[in-house]
Amino acid sequence: MLKQTGENSTIDKIIEIKNKLGKEVVILTHHYQRKEVVDLGDHKGDSFDLSQKAAVDENAKTIIFCGVHFMAESAAVLSQPHQTVQIPDMDAGCWMADMADIVMVERAWKEVSKVVDTASITPIVYMNADASIKAFCGRNEGLVCTSSNADAAFKWAFDRREKIFFFPDEHLGRNTGHKMGLKPDEMILWDPEKPLGGNTEDDIRKARVFLWKGYCLVHTRFTTEQIEMKRKEFPDARIIVHPECTREVVAESDASGSTSYIVTYVDQAPSGSTIVIGTEINLIERLALEYPDKNVIPLHRSLCPNMYKISPENLLQVLENIGELNVVTVPEQIKNDARVALDRMLTLA
Ligand code: 13P
Ligand code: SF4
Repeated sequence: MLKQTGENSTIDKIIEIKNKLGKEVVILTHHYQRKEVVDLGDHKGDSFDLSQKAAVDENAKTIIFCGVHFMAESAAVLSQPHQTVQIPDMDAGCWMADMADIVMVERAWKEVSKVVDTASITPIVYMNADASIKAFCGRNEGLVCTSSNADAAFKWAFDRREKIFFFPDEHLGRNTGHKMGLKPDEMILWDPEKPLGGNTEDDIRKARVFLWKGYCLVHTRFTTEQIEMKRKEFPDARIIVHPECTREVVAESDASGSTSYIVTYVDQAPSGSTIVIGTEINLIERLALEYPDKNVIPLHRSLCPNMYKISPENLLQVLENIGELNVVTVPEQIKNDARVALDRMLTLA
């Protein structure tokens, strides 16, 4: 049980309500949340960990999701009928998720079907997308993945069909395809603004993976020049980045993985070691505080303003309006189809 400071602050008010509600409410916090928010949560994790928590926690009547909207929406899809999901700020979106919508995705699917049979393609959607695209994947024998299981999702797909259509992160898709041994020319970019995604019919027939042209502005700020500079400054450092970074940045780093992978990497690094990290700054700063015996430094300061929208103040507001304020809902049909795609992810080996 969290202890109040006795200062009648926002934090104290949150702790008081939380302690009163007990197991009826569970607060999930993504690794990119500010430290003061993470400290108030029941579970912290990457998007896969948190979706698992949302799927299994049957005690809580209310799940408060401190993260961005697509994460809360996935929790709403996975939650039980007696549960409500609330998010402290409805405007905490995701730039990458906004780069694909269901109309664009359905149009692309139709276009590609003029060249190849869609029965040869598995659609895979990164968690960072709207529920309606997850539902599209559920209806079309596809699945959801996160950065911690994209390899397993690609393997699942290639065991069944010849090609993958990956939405909406070009870089996670390319980094995953590369890990699976695909050559650069087997993965083609699909620009939704252009006819046939900017490809020729021949390109489409030959491709193994179609990569939707979407990206994360927080992670594409990292460059190989920054890595070069850090290597000069800290010759013994290990450099670890998130797979939403470009292929070149991932290739120049020592390791890449989801936010939970990064946390474990730092945890297991020997005392005294230097770890340079290329991901959202709040996670890096928290790790630097949690591991004072290690030199944890950012590759470059890059903040996700959407994650930052969640604060103790708006967390308190939802706690004061349990079951009412900022309730995240998903229409029933979308929910059912999206659940199929999310369940396929949750059962991946
Ligand atoms: P993780 O699944 O690694 O936590 O990543 C989520 C995300 O939005 C990264 O930008
Ligand atoms: Fe979206 Fe990038 Fe923020 Fe992650 S870091 S939530 S991908 S904008």
